[in-house]
Amino acid sequence: MQNNFLNTKILIVDDEQANIALLEDVLENEGYTNFKSTADSRKALDLYKEFRPDLVLLDLNMPHLDGFQVMEQLSEVEKNSYAPVLVLTAQADRNTRLRALAAGARDYIEKPFDITEVVQRISNMLEIRLLHNQVRDQNQILEEKVRARTCELEETRQEAILRLGRAAEYRDNETGMHVIRMSRLSAKLAKKIGLPDEECQLILQASPMHDVGKIGIPDEILLKPGKLNEEEWVIMKKHSEIGAEILSGSRSAIMKMAESIALTHQERWDGSGYPNSLKGEEIPLAGRIVAICDVFDALTSKRYYKEAYSIEKSMGIIEQGSGKDFEPRLVEAFKEALPEMVRIVKELPDNEPADILKVYRETNTTSSAQ
Ligand SMILES: [Fe+2]
Ligand SMILES: [Fe+2]
Repeated sequence: MQNNFLNTKILIVDDEQANIALLEDVLENEGYTNFKSTADSRKALDLYKEFRPDLVLLDLNMPHLDGFQVMEQLSEVEKNSYAPVLVLTAQADRNTRLRALAAGARDYIEKPFDITEVVQRISNMLEIRLLHNQVRDQNQILEEKVRARTCELEETRQEAILRLGRAAEYRDNETGMHVIRMSRLSAKLAKKIGLPDEECQLILQASPMHDVGKIGIPDEILLKPGKLNEEEWVIMKKHSEIGAEILSGSRSAIMKMAESIALTHQERWDGSGYPNSLKGEEIPLAGRIVAICDVFDALTSKRYYKEAYSIEKSMGIIEQGSGKDFEPRLVEAFKEALPEMVRIVKELPDNEPADILKVYRETNTTSSAQ
């Protein structure tokens, strides 16, 4: 066991040079290689900070700063740990010993030294110190691992959500940028009307799945050029319920939010939407928010059945829908935030198949919190 200690770091603080010399001899004889000393207790703190010793051999009775004062300084540095101090004292009375222990000394040795005792106590203290270090290091490694795993899980979760949303959009919106843009627009609008950050974040993360139910719509309907007939519309409209069904029954807040958004994003303020013809505030707020942002993004981007409309034209259509399709308060807020909305739309164009996950990660940490 002793061998493990030989390169541990020991700091000697004693105003008497003779004591330092004696202790250095003892250490050297025992094979210790890594120690420093000072006879000026005022330098103890700086030396301690720089050298980070595993053990301090500290005299009590010294000019300028006595051992108690030095211990006080060290305990400031080691707020979350302990300063490994072995006190050397000629005042072996009970009071002094107790005071030294109370001040943070781990052990004490009476002067004049009994060399064998000094050696033994030093190695005892180093043993404890090394064990302490091992536990500390292990804790750090574990904490690091937990942190990395948590990050990985969170990322995987977000990735799964995003890819699910993308899968749904894949057939009619191949880059999947629509789901990213509309989720950012939605989080921005949520923020604009004063929803708490947590809620904005939920909307951001859940809204990419709003059209996941399109998975259940046949291509000949989903991709039909030109207008759908009545029968086809009936099928097309099922995408909200199919989506909600796919997302239903989860305990996670995001999935619950996603289910609600999938079910209600096609509802309209005046009750003319689907699937449940909900009216006004019967429609969950997230659904009302997503409804505007989904439409705005569809208008401003190119789809297989239409060209991209200008911002002005798109905003005009949204405004025309105020009180009919959309909640007037949200239309107002959207208009107020229009420059930011335009920035989001312009930043993430369809024609650049960007690193979608990177974009999403940046989105998550910044946009909703602004
Ligand atoms: Fe939809
Ligand atoms: Fe959409």
